[in-house]
Amino acid sequence: MRSSLRIIKGEHLALKGIARVLKMEALVLERGGRVDAEILEDIAAYVTEFPMRFHHPKEERTLFATLSGRSPEADRLIVALTNQHEEESRLVAELAAAVRAYVADGDGGLVEVARRYARFLEEHIHMEDAQLFRLAEQLLPDAAWDAVDAAVARMDDPAAEAAEKAKFTRLHLRIMDAALPPLGG
Ligand SMILES: [Fe+2]
Ligand SMILES: [Fe+2]
Repeated sequence: MRSSLRIIKGEHLALKGIARVLKMEALVLERGGRVDAEILEDIAAYVTEFPMRFHHPKEERTLFATLSGRSPEADRLIVALTNQHEEESRLVAELAAAVRAYVADGDGGLVEVARRYARFLEEHIHMEDAQLFRLAEQLLPDAAWDAVDAAVARMDDPAAEAAEKAKFTRLHLRIMDAALPPLGG
């Protein structure tokens, strides 16, 4: 697999983990349980910044830009996915507001909002992994892939942002650790 796709797909796995935790939390709430405010706030903090700052730019400025104009299907997918990146900002703001309301008074429509964002994430990621990336593998010549790989590698570890990126990695680990305690023991 190309190194750019390995990096982007690794971030997809992290985001799918968040979607899974959100669906679990929604189920707990629906059954009348309480969920930990700190996990919810960590999730809201993570998705408010990580996708927009680190993930979407890697896709839009490298792969989408390089693939654009190479086939009508690629162009159609790029437009749809770029619009979904915009939509994600709205869904994340809605989630953050619902989390604040839940922490303040225990409601705020969090079940529906959490499910809506989780479903969005899963569908968006599936469209990229199963459709766009597959098409890119068919359409892009090696030289174009080399340029995409180099650009994604540059964006993945800019020294100035390394500490910031590490903050999100730690936040993600904390969410997974708190939401999915180890089995057995
Ligand atoms: Fe995306
Ligand atoms: Fe993505």
